[in-house]
Amino acid sequence: MLQWSSSFALLACLPAVFAKTYSDPSQVPTTKKYDYVVIGAGAGGATVAARLSENSGVNVLLIEAGISHQGIASVEIPFLDSSNAPNTYLDWNYTTTPQTSLNNRVIQYPRGKLLGGSTSINFMGYNRGSQNFWDRIARVTGDKGWSWSSLQPYFKKLERLTPPADHHNTNGQINPSAHGTSGPLGFSLPGYTLPIDSRIIGTTKELPSQFPFSLDQNAGTQIGWGWTQSTIVDGSRESSATAYLDPNANRGNLDIVLNAQATKLIQTGSQGGVPTFLGVQFAQSASSPRFAVNATKEVIVSAGAVGSPHLLMLSGIGPASQLQSHGIKPIVNAPGVGQNLQDHALLSNFWSVNSTGTFTIDDIIRNSSLFNDLMSDWQKDKMGMFVVGNPNQLGWERVPSNAPIFRSTQDPSSGPLSPHIEYLPFNGWISFVNPMPSSGNYLTIFTAVVAPAARGSITLTSSDPFTYPNINPNLLGSEFDRYAMRYAINATRAFTAASAWKGWILGEAGDLANAHTDAELDAYAAANTATIFHPTGTVSMQYTGGNGVLNSDLTVKGVNGLRVVDLSVLPYIPEAHPQGAVYVLAERVSDLIKASHH
Ligand SMILES: Cc1cc2nc3c(=O)[nH]c(=O)nc-3n(C[C@H](O)[C@H](O)[C@H](O)COP(=O)(O)OP(=O)(O)OC[C@H]3O[C@@H](n4cnc5c(N)ncnc54)[C@H](O)[C@@H]3O)c2cc1C
Ligand SMILES: *[C@@H]1O[C@H](CO)[C@@H](O)[C@H](O)[C@H]1NC(C)=O
Ligand SMILES: *[C@@H]1O[C@H](CO)[C@@H](O)[C@H](O)[C@H]1NC(C)=O
Ligand SMILES: *[C@@H]1O[C@H](CO)[C@@H](O)[C@H](O)[C@H]1NC(C)=O
Ligand SMILES: *[C@@H]1O[C@H](CO)[C@@H](O)[C@H](O)[C@H]1NC(C)=O
Ligand SMILES: *[C@@H]1O[C@H](CO)[C@@H](O)[C@H](O)[C@H]1NC(C)=O
Repeated sequence: MLQWSSSFALLACLPAVFAKTYSDPSQVPTTKKYDYVVIGAGAGGATVAARLSENSGVNVLLIEAGISHQGIASVEIPFLDSSNAPNTYLDWNYTTTPQTSLNNRVIQYPRGKLLGGSTSINFMGYNRGSQNFWDRIARVTGDKGWSWSSLQPYFKKLERLTPPADHHNTNGQINPSAHGTSGPLGFSLPGYTLPIDSRIIGTTKELPSQFPFSLDQNAGTQIGWGWTQSTIVDGSRESSATAYLDPNANRGNLDIVLNAQATKLIQTGSQGGVPTFLGVQFAQSASSPRFAVNATKEVIVSAGAVGSPHLLMLSGIGPASQLQSHGIKPIVNAPGVGQNLQDHALLSNFWSVNSTGTFTIDDIIRNSSLFNDLMSDWQKDKMGMFVVGNPNQLGWERVPSNAPIFRSTQDPSSGPLSPHIEYLPFNGWISFVNPMPSSGNYLTIFTAVVAPAARGSITLTSSDPFTYPNINPNLLGSEFDRYAMRYAINATRAFTAASAWKGWILGEAGDLANAHTDAELDAYAAANTATIFHPTGTVSMQYTGGNGVLNSDLTVKGVNGLRVVDLSVLPYIPEAHPQGAVYVLAERVSDLIKASHH
């Protein structure tokens, strides 16, 4: 796995210049002069650490609470992605507060705790967000650098379009000219044909006015159904760790410490009354000793949409009265820290299907001999069904502009090129809420509200860094969100009524079969909805009418030395799978950081 092992023999006679990976906080040389200390090795942190350390004249320390990503089969093999969380050794194991709009259910809230962060355990769907999405970010932050057209060079810089694992001809499945071909982050089209692929494409031909085919969902317009682009290269997962850290393991100026949780940002001075935060305290566990290190230029917080607001509040940067009520002395009153949490509500809808002459994931899960056959296919040459970890197609749709909901509610989406809802079709029973039945074959279509109006929050429960905060994503917490979910459920009925499904779909399964009126659809959604794991916005940039915490270059307002670079910085949730948004913002901000310390 170690990328540098082949060049090691060549360089063995030179003094050690390789990046050091410390497995324990006590090993970090805390008196070493680090220019930058980056906290969290997920989509944001790994990208920034790799870009900043391109300059061999600066030293970078990357602090990660979790373990290494290397040598873990379920992390590498796309099909096993759903076994990585919740409640495993790769997960923080967060849970939400009781969700008022979901019958007060508590929802599991996984976040990756390893190099690569959540990109090492996610489902690998790769989206950029639409043109309207980025143009709204530019507009509300007053920074043209965030516009779709300004970010195009950064998308191309970070992307590497690769052939699918089965090397099929991808003509008509993507617009290659919209993409980068030589960046660190590899991605590809689906590498294995599933029995439902032709039925889905057939439905787009049969019902094009509601479900049009879309050649490329990452080329500015995000409406319609098309082939999924995934962070998968040659049949294996690509994460921020495999893309940005492994290839740079030969850098002597990038140190990484594992099993090290940042417990506090420390004020190291002040300039003209503005506090400077260049110190970072970290520890392996609640009972182990604390260590500290100072950066000379900047501390970059990339602990994710849960970890970053939590760490800021523990450090005295947050809503003053909330901090005081937990015995934390406020240094900077920043009322927006932890507020503005948005997420995508997700519902699994099931149909039972004809088992004659077909197979579904249900067969693989129930038949260990079939499972082992497919595993050997993957082990032999990274081919076969295990190269697939998410749907081969994704669908995106807008709630029609003449829908009654818009008489009473403003459109929460960023514009006509952005969807309100997403469909994810699976060749089998897939759910985070409803256990798989012991018999039968199924089709699942996830419906997700990707332009929610609801907002929730992350608040402190304690001043102890090892006690988790309250996480309230407020799923389906607005009238628009519930309407959009009802609309989406109805739309799956129109979709599956296409003749492309005849003779295969036998009928609706689970609670869906009994949900028809709006009241029944609401009750069905409340009982079965959870999350698609996209928390966003809890340390957001300043935006019109909002309590923004950051300047548009992601520096923290009212503080010197501190930046936040992860999904918490966006004032609106992408109407898309969000990892692409984090990569591109980390790429742009890496250049801003380099420019401000040249
Ligand atoms: C199960 C699952 C499936 C998903 N599927 C998809 C998908 O298909 N497509 C998609 O685009 N997105 C998906 N996502 C979301 C996507 O992975 C995240 O939005 C993205 O990784 C966020 O990047 P980030 O840098 O903000 O945070 P993360 O990638 O979560 O990284 C944060 C890092 O900081 C570390 N950390 C946290 N606190 C501390 C601390 N105090 N000290 C040190 N380190 C700390 C964490 O351990 C982690 O490594 C999924 C997420 C999950 C959990
Ligand atoms: C999450 O739960 C798993 C299974 O119980 C456990 O092994 C792991 O240590 C937990 N992770 C954390 C961060 O507590
Ligand atoms: C960090 O800087 C502060 C303030 O200058 C100083 O008190 C502290 O000793 C430094 N810590 C380390 C580990 O160098
Ligand atoms: C299980 O899968 C094997 C192929 O690996 C197949 O031969 C067998 O018939 C399957 N068993 C059942 C009960 O479907
Ligand atoms: C969904 O369909 C039902 C039954 O046709 C209808 O009564 C309801 O108004 C529809 N809801 C939405 C939001 O479209
Ligand atoms: C199931 O599929 C088989 C084979 O295509 C077909 O003969 C049969 O009629 C189907 N059953 C139903 C109930 O549609």
